[in-house]
Amino acid sequence: MSEINWSVLREAANDAMAKAYVPYSKFKVGAAALTEDGRIVSGCNVENASYGLTLCAECALVSQLFMTGGGRLVAFTCVDGHGNILMPCGRCRQLLFEHSAKGMILETVSGFKTIDEVIPDAFGPRDLEERK
Ligand code: THU
Repeated sequence: MSEINWSVLREAANDAMAKAYVPYSKFKVGAAALTEDGRIVSGCNVENASYGLTLCAECALVSQLFMTGGGRLVAFTCVDGHGNILMPCGRCRQLLFEHSAKGMILETVSGFKTIDEVIPDAFGPRDLEERK
C-alpha cells in the first residue's frame, strides 16, 4: 500500500466530482482508481430525467479504464460534493470487483479495506465457469 499515493488519487476524485451532472439529486460524486500499470482513471456521476438511469461515478470510471487500455484496479477512492470519502453503493462494489486486481484497496469511511472486505463472497466471472 506504501506505493499508492492516496492524496493524488483523492485529488483526481475531487476533480472528477467537480464535473458531475446532478440536476436532480444535487449530490455530486467523484471516483478515482489506480491501475496496475500506474494510470489514474476517474469518473463523475451523470443523472437522467428518468431517475433510475443515473450513471454512478464508478460507471464512468470503468468506462475510462477500458478507453485508456483496460487492466485491473489496485486502489480506489470516492468522494462526495464536499470532498468527504464516500462508500461506493452495492452495485458499484460489484462493478469494481469485476475489474479488481487481487487485494485491491479501497479508501472507505471506516479506513482502508480490501475489495473482499467490502463485497465478501462476491459473485464474479469465476462463478460463470461450468461447475463440475
Ligand atoms: N452515486 C454514485 O455516483 N456512486 C455511488 O457509489 C453512490 C451514489 C450517485 C448516484 C446519484 O447521482 C447520487 O449519487 C445520489 O444517489
